[in-house]
Amino acid sequence: MAILDIIEYPDEALRQVSRPVQVFDSALRGLVEDLFETLAHSAAIGLSASQAGVLEQVLVVHVPGDDYGPQVYINPEIVKTARLGIVEESCLSVPGIVGNVMRPTQVHVRARDANGQQFERALGGMHAVALQHEMDHLDGVLFVDKLSWFRKLRLKWTASRAAREALATS
Ligand code: NI
Repeated sequence: MAILDIIEYPDEALRQVSRPVQVFDSALRGLVEDLFETLAHSAAIGLSASQAGVLEQVLVVHVPGDDYGPQVYINPEIVKTARLGIVEESCLSVPGIVGNVMRPTQVHVRARDANGQQFERALGGMHAVALQHEMDHLDGVLFVDKLSWFRKLRLKWTASRAAREALATS
């Protein structure tokens, strides 16, 4: 087990598209354990392998206190979605940024577990939202891409103001 280093925005590695997992072996199970351990040591509720530089379709979600517990989704596909909502998101790879994103809040997902066993599951709430956020990572998409142009402008302004203030106080 190991805590993995998380790649941060604007590193181009976050824009890579992940491959489906073909081989469900002990190396894959080791990766899944490392992702769970890394997630447990963070304040986040989800993590994709691509955030640790491994371009395979593997992600973990754990929303503390929800009914699902810690879950791994390998080669996930969304089969059905419902109830579009606006949810507040953040990301380990984009530290310090919080923004509202519009997403379905209920999804039906088909995926495989670490042994290659396929399963289907209906998900709701933050678990469903986190799953979709992590699936975006597998496509090289970040939640900040989904913010409105106005919000993006404010983020830029906030970032440049923070940089100015950091200069002023250093
Ligand atoms: Ni993220």
